[in-house]
Amino acid sequence: MSSKKPPKSPTGKITKLKSRAERTQSQRSWLLRQLNDPYVKSAKTEGYRSRAAYKLKELNEKYRFLKKDMLVIDLGAAPGGWSQIAADIVGEKGKVLGIDLSPIDALPNVTFIQGDFLDVNVQESLKGYIGADKVDVILSDMAALTTGHANTDHLRIILLVETAFAFSLNHLKVGGVFVAKVFQGGTEGSLLNEMKLRFYKVFHAKPNASRSDSKEIYVIATGFKG
Ligand SMILES: C[S@@+](CC[C@H](N)C(=O)[O-])C[C@H]1O[C@@H](n2cnc3c(N)ncnc32)[C@H](O)[C@@H]1O
Repeated sequence: MSSKKPPKSPTGKITKLKSRAERTQSQRSWLLRQLNDPYVKSAKTEGYRSRAAYKLKELNEKYRFLKKDMLVIDLGAAPGGWSQIAADIVGEKGKVLGIDLSPIDALPNVTFIQGDFLDVNVQESLKGYIGADKVDVILSDMAALTTGHANTDHLRIILLVETAFAFSLNHLKVGGVFVAKVFQGGTEGSLLNEMKLRFYKVFHAKPNASRSDSKEIYVIATGFKG
């Protein structure tokens, strides 16, 4: 008889893998939740690519950081909900640059780059699109695929936010705004301190469209000091 032990995580903790029945059950619950979700329904009727569109809509209705004619970068843009909201607001004279690992179908007034934002070459090509301009708003809804191992997932999320923040320091115009998805009780202490040094106002917000059982929250930094 085989006596297979459960796998150990890098920290030595035992990770319990889900059985097929448990996986099927959680897929069913996900599907049920999607079918009954009012934001999923509204996204369909209003023509948004994702329910996530309502998170940005709500944040912007409250804090008013997106305006006509702005240059906006949308990191982690697929399938395109945030880009749709931003493009509607900035209008034809504004510009939205979206980037994602996954492709998206073309959207009016949105320039899209497919690639890994953590890759310096991809950041270089993004810089090519920005040109000599400075950016008004940098949005990041990036989320790495979860591994199920809490520490690893946490580190991956931090890396995405830190990289987006570092990029913002080089490309935002004075007075610019940085908005990013963070998890688990907000932004990491050292990153939050750095944000407070570089922006006049830094706070966290959780829009109603963000599921209450999700640890996702957004950090909003306004008034870039340059
Ligand atoms: C929650 S989704 C974004 C949803 C989007 N805001 C919308 O409204 O449709 C997170 C996205 O982050 C992207 N992502 C994660 N890591 C990334 C990376 N290193 N570079 C680019 N995109 C990344 C994923 O591919 C995924 O599409």
